[in-house]
Amino acid sequence: MGTPLDRPFVAFAGGPTGHWEVTASATITGSPLPPVSRVDVHERVGLPGPDQAATWTLVGRVSNGRYTRRTELDALTAIQAPLGRRAASRAALIPIRKSPAWWALAQDERRAVLAERSQHISVGTRHAGTIARRLCHSRDLGGAFDFLTWFEFAPEQEPAFDELVAELRGSLEWSYVERESDIRLARRPSNRAA
Ligand code: HEM
Repeated sequence: MGTPLDRPFVAFAGGPTGHWEVTASATITGSPLPPVSRVDVHERVGLPGPDQAATWTLVGRVSNGRYTRRTELDALTAIQAPLGRRAASRAALIPIRKSPAWWALAQDERRAVLAERSQHISVGTRHAGTIARRLCHSRDLGGAFDFLTWFEFAPEQEPAFDELVAELRGSLEWSYVERESDIRLARRPSNRAA
């Protein structure tokens, strides 16, 4: 049986302080997030409140998979890079909201768009050995986004990450994305042990 720590709440707090320094920030679709210079990531067992010092706090929760088949999961699990690698000093926080048209689809139709027609899982799996990731769901928490996606990689992997993101953004799945920001980050060396 799972514990609450298997599916923690994760708060991404953007503001003047934090362990991750913003190196670039772009609004891909929809309304922008207010610009910030730092981001902090907090894991909690219970639902976190807003960080008072932060400009914005985005809260999501690690959840169960919805669309991944056993064979895909096994292939992914065999190679997936873990979070927190020392060499992975770059990160991306990409919050995403999908449209009412997406949520009006049935589960099997969403799977067909995401996996079969957009190849999200197979395209992503090509990068999973070098790019660590965490998918947080926030739709049911009533946030401004449906998903808070977080990726960690070494600086030399950023061009490959950019290619991956461009490939996904050109897919049918992304025609259902109505709000997306892309915040790139570098871990602050002095705060690594903090
Ligand atoms: C690094 C390689 C990647 C891999 C291996 C990967 C893999 C996956 C998998 C397996 C799922 C389905 C989870 C489920 O069964 O519910 C998923 C969902 C998702 N991924 Fe990725 N992904 C990658 C990169 C990305 C990138 C770069 C983005 C954003 C630009 C992204 C955004 C999302 C979102 C928003 C979902 C949730 C979709 C939904 O439930 O509608 N992924 N990913």
